[in-house]
Amino acid sequence: MSVIAIINQKGGCGKTTTTINLAAALAQKKQKTLIIDFDPQGHSSLGLGVDEQKLTRTISDVLLKGEPPQNALLRLKTNLDLLPSNIALTALEQKLASITGREYYLCNLLADFGQNYQTVIIDCPPHLGLLSVNALLAADKVLVPVEPSKFGLDGLKKLVETIQMLCQKTKHILDIKYLLSLYEPDSDFAETFAKRFKRDYGTALLHTKINRDSVIREAAQAGLPVADFQPRSLAYLDYLALANEIILWQNQEILENIFNNPPTQPPQTDLGVCFALQNTEAQAVNISGDFNNWTPEASPLIKLEQKGLWYTFLPLQAGRYNYQFVIDGKHQPDPRNPAVELSPFGTPQSVVEIG
Ligand SMILES: Nc1ncnc2c1ncn2[C@@H]1O[C@H](COP(=O)(O)OP(=O)(O)O)[C@@H](O)[C@H]1O
Ligand SMILES: [Mg+2]
Repeated sequence: MSVIAIINQKGGCGKTTTTINLAAALAQKKQKTLIIDFDPQGHSSLGLGVDEQKLTRTISDVLLKGEPPQNALLRLKTNLDLLPSNIALTALEQKLASITGREYYLCNLLADFGQNYQTVIIDCPPHLGLLSVNALLAADKVLVPVEPSKFGLDGLKKLVETIQMLCQKTKHILDIKYLLSLYEPDSDFAETFAKRFKRDYGTALLHTKINRDSVIREAAQAGLPVADFQPRSLAYLDYLALANEIILWQNQEILENIFNNPPTQPPQTDLGVCFALQNTEAQAVNISGDFNNWTPEASPLIKLEQKGLWYTFLPLQAGRYNYQFVIDGKHQPDPRNPAVELSPFGTPQSVVEIG
């Protein structure tokens, strides 16, 4: 189980949107995922189409009244569950004020209940009070969405200091990554912001950016993740790339294993077949094959910056597939895969056989 707290005390930077759409993309990739709406505003619940009026139990009942979490749990779709919240959660700070161990209520809940999931995502409120402390102490990873805007960096230093102090005081370990959200691809300002951020935060900045796209807002208004609202949108591709990168963050040893062993056909992992390539120069790498109708745009690889490793996981049915990597627009076979055959047009294509 990995628990990711999505946090930034700045409102409107994309915490809730990231929670909903990352969770849905992980669920699509067959990861059993739980969203914990930990903001009394209940935006994750709303954005997932939950009618607040009809909620009989929420995370507050679980934490404050000892209600079994199953009674509040909403099964949204395959692999995606939600513990919803509403305004009642504001009472938590006051009710627990004099109780020792008040920082560990969520952590204690997840120690047991969280084991039902591969990933738990906590949507935090926009301030650093007891709720956020509970989220941070329940988590092993922190994801901070950052909007490239004039005020986008406001409060970031305070957030990091707070997290560091909390970790020191409690001997807790947290791995922090940053995500550029609401990114405007054609804006010089956003590009400069991204370059500076990369310079200052290095590999703590995720490679994936979430572009600003009206589909994302429309999906939230319709109470759906983009995955269900418009699965063919570019926004959904952003979230799939993010899910891939998060999965790698959770499973870094998979890539290390691949590159520490002699070249073979792409290996099957729990996450799907792992296609991987080392190329420090490339700007973009995609994969095109029988499994995606030879449309490279459908399957971009993401890059692990430090080592110039590109990779993706594709859940493929049993069968035999031909494929090529598309590196900056140029097709070529997989250099690590010894199985190659010629296409009817005489071009070399790699072969992967899934048993
Ligand atoms: N990538 C995006 N493109 C377009 N609108 C977005 C995007 N990300 C977030 N939004 C919109 O911006 C607003 C704030 O986002 P939200 O996720 O609620 O922020 P937070 O939870 O940090 O307060 C919402 O109306 C949301 O629909
Ligand atoms: Mg929010």
